[in-house]
Amino acid sequence: MTMKKNARRSIEWFGKDGKDGFHHRSWMKNQGLPHHLFDGRPVIGICNTWSELTPCNAHFRLLAERVKRGVYEKGGFPLEFPVMSLGETLMRPSTMLYRNLVSMDVEESIRANPLDGVVLLVGCDKTTPALLMGAASCDLPTIVVSGGPMLNGRFRQEEIGSGTHVWKFEDMVRAGDMSMREFMDAEACMSRSVGHCMTMGTASTMASMSESLGMALPTNAAIPAADSRRNVLAHMAGRRIVEMVEEDLAMSKILTREAFENAIRTNGAIGGSTNAVVHLLAVAGRIGVDLSLDDWDTFGQDVPCIVNLMPSGKYLMEDFYYAGGLPAVHRELGEAGLLHKDALTANGCTLWENVKDAECWNRDVIHSLSAPFKEQGGIAVLRGNLAPQGAILKPSAATESLMRHRGKAVVFEDIDDYKARVDDPDLRVDETCVLVLKGCGPKGYPGFPETGNMGLPAKLLKQGVSDMVRISDARMSGTAFGTVVLHTAPEAATGGPLALVRDGDEIELDVPARKLVLHVSEEELERRRTAWRAPKPHSERGYLKLYLDHVMQADTGADLDILTGGSGAEVPRESH
Ligand code: FES
Repeated sequence: MTMKKNARRSIEWFGKDGKDGFHHRSWMKNQGLPHHLFDGRPVIGICNTWSELTPCNAHFRLLAERVKRGVYEKGGFPLEFPVMSLGETLMRPSTMLYRNLVSMDVEESIRANPLDGVVLLVGCDKTTPALLMGAASCDLPTIVVSGGPMLNGRFRQEEIGSGTHVWKFEDMVRAGDMSMREFMDAEACMSRSVGHCMTMGTASTMASMSESLGMALPTNAAIPAADSRRNVLAHMAGRRIVEMVEEDLAMSKILTREAFENAIRTNGAIGGSTNAVVHLLAVAGRIGVDLSLDDWDTFGQDVPCIVNLMPSGKYLMEDFYYAGGLPAVHRELGEAGLLHKDALTANGCTLWENVKDAECWNRDVIHSLSAPFKEQGGIAVLRGNLAPQGAILKPSAATESLMRHRGKAVVFEDIDDYKARVDDPDLRVDETCVLVLKGCGPKGYPGFPETGNMGLPAKLLKQGVSDMVRISDARMSGTAFGTVVLHTAPEAATGGPLALVRDGDEIELDVPARKLVLHVSEEELERRRTAWRAPKPHSERGYLKLYLDHVMQADTGADLDILTGGSGAEVPRESH
């Protein structure tokens, strides 16, 4: 069979005569697939991150079945395939170490197979960016279906949020305000349905980013995983992806510069996770959009936080959905001129067409821009001699009185040093000090873990101290809070200025002026730089070696340098 211009990729497999076509169809037929499915209809890959080791995505086999219903209904041919899954709560040393590996798995799985369009089933934190990155490097018609958040946690009379309350409860135990028995009781109360973290943590943020970028259907971000309407959304995405293939609506037509600016503004409005910064930078790098760390400040700084959700506020994703969800937020932003209204979305409509009639049903959950929940949304990008390539801080999760602060450094050389000494009664620290943690950047840990919101010293917790300035080259869980400077670049493990900080050095944080300054003379810093020795590499083989040799710094998204850009979806050579 001769390939027509713009013909579907799948025809190169299933439309062939002779032994090649026989090979491609015959083995597929062992699954009980009738011959008419190979007649040239759109073949839709359902890229599934289901795994019992990723509890947030453990309901995805049902979700995939709902996508298939929609695909069949519209005359497509769905084929589900697994990729490596990333479960935030179990994987060591950090799921972030494997985000780029999964993106490779996704990219190569799509390109190597007879797929015309792809549905990405995503949920737990890194699964969303990993699949978006891999798919972007192929640039086929693609739609995101998120698995949805868990139902609200409830412990006795209190609504409790994934992650956010773990930090709180742990501090209470360390301060002697909660027994271990109560702590263990809270475990089951927090995670009481299928779905991912139901705070505005990284998973909910990335589901919101997918919807804001136009990559998912409206309401994708907030429908609870256990709500039957989540299955309806999956079904509708299955229908829509077949149309997207017929319209040749590739990812690059949706993921424009304007789409990323919409997402950055939305992140400010929802008080979204700092992790969105590295993930969106990495996705932009794959699809060829020139996005920089400074764009986060430029487009996010005038956006107040209007969503009252943990960790910045008090409600949870279930409440957010009932209050109107992300469409209600987008409408607020659009009416204030803070959205590119014409940005195209996966359903073929513009973002504004999707949300212009959206309603808010609870103004305590979704505030108006004229009476925001917190004046300061967005992400502050800090610079100075401690972070020449930048560092970030989330103002809505920080303590107002610490946004301008000068204090003496208490330095931990790495996470083991921190764990060994933080609760030492002899640690010379008071609440005015600045805690500094090194060795947790992309190369340092390795894998850029979420250790940036390091717990406060027990002796200060017992005195009632609830926040201090903390600085590291690590990330922070999207469910965490505090006056925490993150992603300091270049990181300590590469000899960045963070590596040179010593106990007692004066550090100045000035968020309004976007400054992060180490008050040590340049001559002294040069002496320390000369004496600095690079740590031994974590590995000389395998994926870890590849990662360490190629991972870039946080300010460009911590992708591997060999993976930026894309190779398209050209059909590889026949091998039989
Ligand atoms: Fe999976 Fe939080 S642990 S989303």
